[in-house]
Parts: sequence; structure tokens; C-alpha cells
Amino acid sequence: MRNGIRFESWYEDFNRFAGDLYEGRYTSDYVKDLVELGKEVRTLADEKGSLIVAHNYQYPELQEVAQAVGDSLGLSQYVAQQADKRVDFCGVWFMGETAKTIVGDRAKVYMPDKPGCSLVASIDRERIKGWLARNPEAVVISYVNTDARTKAISDYICTSRNAAQVLQHAADTHPGRRILFLPDKYLGSVALAQSTVDRDRVDLYDGACHVHAKIGEHALEESFDRHPDAELLLHPECGCSTSCLAKTTNGSSPYRNAYFLSTEQMLRRARSSAAPEFVVGTEAGMLYRLRKLVPEKTFHPISHDAMCEYMKMNTLEKLRDSLKHDRVEVTVEPHVREEAQAAIQRMLTIQ
Ligand code: 13P
Ligand code: SF4
Repeated sequence: MRNGIRFESWYEDFNRFAGDLYEGRYTSDYVKDLVELGKEVRTLADEKGSLIVAHNYQYPELQEVAQAVGDSLGLSQYVAQQADKRVDFCGVWFMGETAKTIVGDRAKVYMPDKPGCSLVASIDRERIKGWLARNPEAVVISYVNTDARTKAISDYICTSRNAAQVLQHAADTHPGRRILFLPDKYLGSVALAQSTVDRDRVDLYDGACHVHAKIGEHALEESFDRHPDAELLLHPECGCSTSCLAKTTNGSSPYRNAYFLSTEQMLRRARSSAAPEFVVGTEAGMLYRLRKLVPEKTFHPISHDAMCEYMKMNTLEKLRDSLKHDRVEVTVEPHVREEAQAAIQRMLTIQ
């Protein structure tokens, strides 16, 4: 929970911490407009009793007006504890749906726009139903990056922060049963490598995020050439994560220190590590948060085109309009919410 917004430092902060990420965006005229919009947003949010939350990949101005900024798991936990009237969720649609499933009729959930997610789009529910028909006793673990109906046919939901723990828990709780992990194959492989679960028991769906999948071996090698002494913070959705983890484990990785982390865990690692310099392998928005909250250290993006166009569909102007006109409201059919509840509850509690 954050208090007090320092609008007077927006121009300097946005250029200092995110100028290279969003080149040419933060001109002085544009930041003046943003400051006016930001003040309007806060006034409207207070009038409407709204809790504004923003994912780590959101533009700096959206992170700044939010009461909470974080990863998928952290924001879900925050909404579960704090929401009592209205939530304005700055993220992608599955995050809004998850929030709505968690709060039920206790609060309304709105989003500035209706952004999709390529991982969610990679899911073919008929294929999953076919797999379940062939494996009727099986356990389904879905990454939180799935639509509400897929969550409703899942036994467990996990996030990038607790995927290995959820997989281990599901395998231990249901000995001998097959497991389907979906939809991200890279996250699934990392979770398997970080658990003691028998590889042969698990079917990995072959979905991927278009932003992270292209962070492959090449990006990793190039960033190592540029910053050989940096510590590596890598999101498990990255295309290079599985091979990088294998190399780190057998000691053949050029990086002496490589960590496979959700976005919020990256912030924790950056704070606790003795390293002064980091290469960050995830969507660019994360860099603003890291640089602003840990200004004494240096953070390099692994690649300058790791930008999620879905996350960037949300703007301060759209958030203002959403608060003013009560749109876009997130709805999830009550029976889908009910069916997805238990799996989401497991996501919130398994650590
Ligand atoms: P986190 O849960 O790590 O925030 O990741 C969400 C996401 O969409 C990654 O692309
Ligand atoms: Fe989805 Fe990838 Fe964007 Fe995350 S970065 S919201 S997984 S498309």
C-alpha cells in the first residue's frame, strides 16, 4: 500500500528510470498532461471508493496512481484482502477476471480497456477436454494466464511465483495420477526442474508468451557479452529459461548468478543481493519499478523489444474514462466463478 503521490517528480522520474524504455514518450508537455490526468484519476478513485492496482508491466504513470503494484500473485492476494467496493485493475483481462472471481459480489471490477494475452489465446479448450477424456483421473494445473472457463476445469492455478510448489503439492497429494500443466511450456519445464516430480507423469501443453518466447539464447548471449559481471534475473516464461536453468545447475552457464523469478521476486532479489548490476529478462515495464525502488543499483533490459502491446493498451486517459463512466466492467458468469474458486484459492495459499 502506497501513500502520497509525488506528481512534481514525474518528469524527472519517468525520464531517469524509463526514458530508454519508452523513447520520446515523456516530453515535458506530455508529462504535464499526465500529471493533470493523474490528479483527476486520484480524485475520481477517492470519490468512488476504488482500489487501483497495477501490474509491474504497466506504464510508469499507471504504477504511480495505483495503491498497489505487483505481480499476478501479489495483486490477487492484495485484492482478496482489501477490495470491498470497487477495483480498477490495470493489467490484462485474465487478471481482471481472476480478481472478479476472488471478490465475487463483494466488489465490482473495472479495467481501462480489454487487453488480451497471447498465452491465454494459445489455449484450445476442446484439446484440453479431449486430453481429459483420455485421462479421466488426471490433475490439471493451469497457469493464472488462462481464461476463467479454463480455470473452471482446473484443479490448481499457479503463478510464476509458486509454479514449482503447486506442481509438487499436486503431485504429492495425488500420487500416481497424471498431470497436465498448461499453457506455458517454458514455465512448466522450469517448475519441473525445480521440483522432484517425475517428468514422465507430466504433460506440458505447448503454449508460450510471444514477448518472452523470443527472449532466447541469442538475447542471453548478447546481454552476457555486454554485461558479463551482472546478475541475471530471468522470468521463467522466457524462451531461454529451461536451457539456462540446466546450464546454471550443471555449472556451464556463463552467468555466475542466474535466478528464475516472477516479477515481484525480481524486486526482492534486487534488494537482497549484494550485486550492483543486473540483467533483467522480462517485459520492459519491470525496469521502471526496479530502478525507482532500488536506485543505487543498475538494471539493464535483456532486450529492448520485450514490450507487451496488450499491457500497454492501458493508459491513464482510459483509466480516467473508466472511473468516470464505469467501464469496462469485468464480469464472470457465477457458475464459472464458483467452479474456479477452489483452484484459485489453492493458488493464493500454496507457497
Ligand atoms: P508475473 O506473475 O511474474 O507478474 O507475470 C505475469 C505475466 O503476464 C508474465 O508475462
Ligand atoms: Fe500475456 Fe506475455 Fe503480455 Fe504477460 S507479457 S500479459 S504472458 S502476452
